[in-house]
Amino acid sequence: MSAVKINDNIYWVGAIDYDVRNFHGYLTPYGTTYNAYLILDDRVTLVDTVKATHTQDMLRNISEVIDPARIDVHISNHVEPDHSGALPELRRIAPNAAIYTSPNGLKGLTAYYPSAMAGADVHVVKTGETLRTGQYEFSFVLMPMVHWPDSMTTYLPGAKTLFCNDALGQHIASLERFDDEIGRDRLLERAGDYYANIVLPFGMQVQKLLGEITPLSVDTVCPSHGVVLRSYIGDMLDRYAAWARNETDQLKAVIVYDTMWGATRDMAESLALELRGRGMRPELVCLKTAHISTAMASVLDASFIAVGSPTLNRNLMPQVAAFLTYMRGLAPKNRKGLAFGSHGWSGEGASQVETALGDMGFELEPTRKTVWRA
Ligand code: FEO
Repeated sequence: MSAVKINDNIYWVGAIDYDVRNFHGYLTPYGTTYNAYLILDDRVTLVDTVKATHTQDMLRNISEVIDPARIDVHISNHVEPDHSGALPELRRIAPNAAIYTSPNGLKGLTAYYPSAMAGADVHVVKTGETLRTGQYEFSFVLMPMVHWPDSMTTYLPGAKTLFCNDALGQHIASLERFDDEIGRDRLLERAGDYYANIVLPFGMQVQKLLGEITPLSVDTVCPSHGVVLRSYIGDMLDRYAAWARNETDQLKAVIVYDTMWGATRDMAESLALELRGRGMRPELVCLKTAHISTAMASVLDASFIAVGSPTLNRNLMPQVAAFLTYMRGLAPKNRKGLAFGSHGWSGEGASQVETALGDMGFELEPTRKTVWRA
C-alpha cells in the first residue's frame, strides 16, 4: 500500500496487516491497520508509528512523500507497541527529531525503548499545550484510559483534523482509506466490535473525551486503526456517546453458552423461543465455535444477557469461564440476564455462572437448571 493523501498536507503512511487474527486475545477476522500520519510544514511531523514488524512498510510509504531523515517532530499519542514499535528505527534514521508525548507516554517509551530513548529531545505535553511547526499549530488533549494512562489525542485546527489514536478505531485491513469507501454500516459494525473489546470499560473517560473534542471544528478524523473518517464523523460520535453511556437495545438479547451432549444447547434454544415470545430479538452464541470476543461484540448493545454452562467436574465449562472472565474485565453495565445449564448430579456450573453475573451487577432472573435432558 502506498502513501495516501488525506487532506491539505497530511498523508497516511501507516501499514496494513492483513494476517493478524489474534490481537492480544481479541479475534480480528478482518486484520487491521497501524496508522501513522505525516504532516508537511516548515517542520515535518510524524504522528505515531506502526508495529515493529511493519516498520519497513511505514518507511517505504514515508519515502514516497519525503526522506524519512527529514522528520523533525514525532508525536507519540500512545506507547502501546502497535503504535510505537517503529520508534527505535525512526530514532536511528532521524535522531534529532523532537518527541512530543504525554507524561505517562514518556514513562512508557522509556520503559519500552531505553536505548533508543537515551538522549532524545523529549517534550512532555498536557491538555491545552501547543506545538507550532510553521503554518500549523498542533494542540494536545490528554485522554487517560482511552484506553491506556498515556493515551493522547492531537488536534490540528489549521487542517480541521483530529488524530485520535485508538479512539474511534476499527480493526479492518483494506485498501480503502476513507469511511465512505467502506460504507456507514460496515464502519459502525467494525467500530462496535472494536469498542466492545477495547474501550467498553472506559465509558466515563470516553464521555469526558467527547466533551472535549465535540466542540472542535473537525472535517477529518484520523484514528490509529482502520479507515479515516470524513463522511460519518457525526454518526461515529453519536454511537460512541451511546456506547459510553452503556445504552442498550431493550429488545436485544444474547444467549452465550457451551454444551457437552446438547442439553444446555436445548435450554439455550428453548430460552431463545421464550424470549422471542416476550417480544425480544435473541441471538445465540455457542462458545464451542464462536470466540469470546465475537460474543462480546454481541453483548455491546444487548439489554438481556443469558449465559449457560453444563457442569463439568463440579465446575462450569472452561470456555464459559473464559467468557465470564473476559466480560467481567470489559464491565458492561445496566444489564439484565440469567444463568442456566444442564447437569447430571451436582450442578455447580449454572450456579457459578449465576455468581459471576451477580458480581457484575446484572439484574438476574432465577437460574434455570436441568438434570440430563429432563
Ligand atoms: Fe492500538 Fe492501544 O493500541
